[in-house]
Amino acid sequence: MQPLFLASLVSLWLLSLPSFVANAQLVSGPGHSAVIPWWKIGNSLHVGNVGNDSAALSDPDLDVSEWYSIGSKATLMAAYLENGARSFETELFRDENMKAYHEHLRPAFQEPWYYRSKFTLNINNRFGAYYYQLKTHGISSRADIYLNGALIADKNVQAGAYTGLTYNITSKARNGTNILLVRVYPTDYNRDFALGFVDWNPPPADNGTGIWRDVELKQTGSLSFAGPPRVNTKPYFDGDAAIVDVKVEVVNLGVQSVRGEVVCFVYDHKGKEQWAVKEGVSLAGHGTRKVVLGFLLRKPAYWYPKQWGLQPLYSTSCNVTTDLHLSDTTPKVRFGIRTVTSSLNPFNDTTFFINGEPFQVLGAGYTSDIFLRFDEEKVRAQFQYVLDMGLNTVRLEGKQEHDRLYELADDMGIMIMAGWECCDKWEGWSYNNEGSGEKWKDPDYAIANASMRHEAELMQHHPSILAFLIGSDFWPDDRATRMYVDALKSLDWDVPIIASASQRGFPALLGNGGMKMDGPYDWVPPNYWYTDQLGAAFGFGSELGTGAGTPELSSLKRFISSPYLDVLWKNLTVGLYHMSTNVSSFHTRTIYNNALSARFGPPRSLEDYLLKAQMMDYEATRAQFEAYAAKWSAERPATGLIYWMLNSAWPSLHWALFDYYLHPAGAYFGVKTGSRSQHVAYDYLSRSVYLINRSLAALGPCTVDMELLDLNGTVIGNAHTTTTQLSPNNSTRLFEINGIEKLKDVALLKLVLKNQAKVLSRNVYLLTPKLDTLDFKNSTWYHTPVTSYANFTALDTLPQVDLTAKAMVTNIQGLETTAKIRLQNKSVSPAVFIRLNLVFFNELVRLFSGEYEETTVEVAPVHWSDNYVTLWPGESLELETRFTYHGHYTFIRVHIDGWNVPKQRISIDMRGGKGSWIGGQMD
Ligand SMILES: *[C@@H]1O[C@H](CO)[C@@H](O)[C@H](O)[C@H]1NC(C)=O
Ligand SMILES: *[C@@H]1O[C@H](CO)[C@@H](O)[C@H](O)[C@H]1NC(C)=O
Ligand SMILES: *[C@@H]1O[C@H](CO)[C@@H](O)[C@H](O)[C@H]1NC(C)=O
Ligand SMILES: *[C@@H]1O[C@H](CO)[C@@H](O)[C@H](O)[C@H]1NC(C)=O
Ligand SMILES: *[C@@H]1O[C@H](CO)[C@@H](O)[C@H](O)[C@H]1NC(C)=O
Ligand SMILES: *[C@@H]1O[C@H](CO)[C@@H](O)[C@H](O)[C@H]1NC(C)=O
Ligand SMILES: *[C@@H]1O[C@H](CO)[C@@H](O)[C@H](O)[C@H]1NC(C)=O
Repeated sequence: MQPLFLASLVSLWLLSLPSFVANAQLVSGPGHSAVIPWWKIGNSLHVGNVGNDSAALSDPDLDVSEWYSIGSKATLMAAYLENGARSFETELFRDENMKAYHEHLRPAFQEPWYYRSKFTLNINNRFGAYYYQLKTHGISSRADIYLNGALIADKNVQAGAYTGLTYNITSKARNGTNILLVRVYPTDYNRDFALGFVDWNPPPADNGTGIWRDVELKQTGSLSFAGPPRVNTKPYFDGDAAIVDVKVEVVNLGVQSVRGEVVCFVYDHKGKEQWAVKEGVSLAGHGTRKVVLGFLLRKPAYWYPKQWGLQPLYSTSCNVTTDLHLSDTTPKVRFGIRTVTSSLNPFNDTTFFINGEPFQVLGAGYTSDIFLRFDEEKVRAQFQYVLDMGLNTVRLEGKQEHDRLYELADDMGIMIMAGWECCDKWEGWSYNNEGSGEKWKDPDYAIANASMRHEAELMQHHPSILAFLIGSDFWPDDRATRMYVDALKSLDWDVPIIASASQRGFPALLGNGGMKMDGPYDWVPPNYWYTDQLGAAFGFGSELGTGAGTPELSSLKRFISSPYLDVLWKNLTVGLYHMSTNVSSFHTRTIYNNALSARFGPPRSLEDYLLKAQMMDYEATRAQFEAYAAKWSAERPATGLIYWMLNSAWPSLHWALFDYYLHPAGAYFGVKTGSRSQHVAYDYLSRSVYLINRSLAALGPCTVDMELLDLNGTVIGNAHTTTTQLSPNNSTRLFEINGIEKLKDVALLKLVLKNQAKVLSRNVYLLTPKLDTLDFKNSTWYHTPVTSYANFTALDTLPQVDLTAKAMVTNIQGLETTAKIRLQNKSVSPAVFIRLNLVFFNELVRLFSGEYEETTVEVAPVHWSDNYVTLWPGESLELETRFTYHGHYTFIRVHIDGWNVPKQRISIDMRGGKGSWIGGQMD
């Protein structure tokens, strides 16, 4: 790191920002609640002589102009970035900058910091009795809260990143200006209940400390709701009707007993008000009552995961009145009519059922941003990728994020497997000798209980929730299990509660979790998945993958500078900062690189390395997802798979299906191919072909064509099968492929599934006469070694092909553009692993220096019908791409290359509008 950089960081730290204009009154009547809209953040450096004095820090006239400014939430690091230069994040993530930067900042994060907000209340008794409550949703990881200098809660109460509590602040609230002060304490992942990253990536310098979720203020009359409505739905009359129960908890804040009326409105999935249900309540002073309002819904519209149907969302909101005055109101929450259950099959594997249908989980593990920033558009884009890849589930391991994430999942039809995280404080059990968390003491149970209650309250009504895993690598002890289960039940939890994501043990109350965590987490060959060992395709794999997820060069260049890029392909066994941390088994790419060099030949350049890596990634993720999909109807079914992982918290070199900049590459298209709804897949081990239908609809008549081609373009095996139909939600073994004994070095296998003339799935493999040999008895928890590798080096003999490419815009809808790319292989050799990359491009841009430069911008997110494809001699293929075009750039181009495909680029002509093909141009 250059000294200049450090100096600029320090000055950033002290940067002053214009202070906000204190807005009008925050809440203006009973039933009104508002998020604290902004905060000023400072530490001892900012507060100077005021020191740690909460009264002085709460003085409305205190000069906080030098403090940082944020919106409603940000961890300390997020605030720091928000108040810095825009390019700062790029600088921070580049090379090993973050290491030096963390060293520099760590001392500052070892002391308390202050979040301070000023707001106005206009207190009057126009509406009768009035009460004010402050609601937290978790502050990482401990905080003292003061209102106008008076302590509301201390760090032993407001403890835990998920502890959401409601405080009665009526006697401390002032008519006029109020000062809310929150002193946050340093987070330690082993001591505190926080959001850690285990070995996934370096921890943020502040360990995620701060107000990472909104804090709310609410005004009510005497009667108040303790949380949002909870909803239970149950099919009735064979599903022709559903019983809907809306449940709310009413609290009497006053000391006098009060009579009131609760009324809940229910809106149908088109948003039309349909039903009002009401009930009178009578509460003693400080009393609490649960009110259940039920009704029968005729002809309900059922909510399904995306691949199975629609996502109709009903909604409800409730009011409570006293003497005809509104006393409180709930937010409007949405719910779906659906059931989720699970059971253990005779093999002790968990199977989920949605609306009674067995539901094979194909999903991946989600991570929050490294600084816990929540960018809704980015989450939406990632969820669109989840669906585009054909996945149906996202696992949150201790990364429960915000309500908005669940709303997106509800809207989009993605199932969420939520739960607590492994390895740190969350799993501080006496019998856990692997984790680093401090063992739990009495007060810890209270923190975990409050966390569970709060998260249950947040999630309960969302139809996207598949399960809550109260343990990950380890199961909770009996006391914690009882407490978690009671908390969930008391909040009307009606989807599965799973003891843990592994089978090391289980609590008696819940029994076996029915999930395995037997690896791998690093590269294994494709045939691994078809064996009957460890992570192979049987049972429910709660986190497993091949370490794939190598970013393409355009993304790599954004976080690794040129000299370091060389290390990637020249030093194949060194530790890399952008892999897992240096204490992890995944700090190097050694296992992966050994396989790459042995199978495809040692890398000759960075480009060569990256192309081989994409081929490895594609092959690896496709095989994993395909094997699970293929074995769904096996004697011991593959009931689910969570790929480790979906995304990454910062720019990372592995363990993700797309990179931090949302560029989809080999790993992505491997999954997308392997997880097609109607698919035809090759089992490397039995050399047979599987027919897969993941939808709930039967399909027929269908045909399957198989062709085996050697590298000279000679067909050495083929088959054509007519099948009458594809059974719904089923997988069948079709036939063994022929001709494979004629395979000398490398051959290409093509499988095509058609319905009438429509191609449902086209799937190409590279096959070798000898498979990789697995050495299962020397397996570790994270991988299985290979004693001899498959040999793909004959691919070097393939001549360069003549590939023509043309593009045409087919649809423009607002900013959404769709284009078709037509590829044709004019050679007698196959065109292997053709890679298409979409870029925006400005011919010449004048720089500040006066020079001109071309600017090329990678398009992301981008959707491709298929990519990294292989074409037979003479074969044509049309691909579709969909992207957002803002018009800031003059040209849109597709860069094309591949294993034996000369580089070329073609333009997509936006000016011409729809309808004309534009041809390619060699580079
Ligand atoms: C609060 O202040 C407003 C304006 O200054 C005043 O009208 C109102 O009566 C005050 N409320 C109470 C409860 O004193
Ligand atoms: C962050 O947590 C780790 C334990 O996981 C601890 O060693 C470290 O001191 C913490 N950092 C800060 C700034 O408190
Ligand atoms: C809330 O605070 C008010 C004002 O101090 C008090 O009268 C009331 O009893 C409190 N209610 C509860 C439930 O603590
Ligand atoms: C709740 O009260 C608000 C404000 O009076 C009103 O707009 C809303 O329609 C009421 N909703 C219900 C469910 O009664
Ligand atoms: C399933 O789990 C139960 C309880 O641990 C055990 O008794 C039984 O043997 C297991 N069954 C199989 C097939 O592993
Ligand atoms: C990479 O290898 C080169 C040549 O062997 C060596 O000079 C260099 O120090 C290595 N770099 C790292 C980071 O290990
Ligand atoms: C391809 O052709 C070359 C030259 O005719 C021959 O040497 C080679 O064995 C052939 N390869 C295969 C796989 O048939």
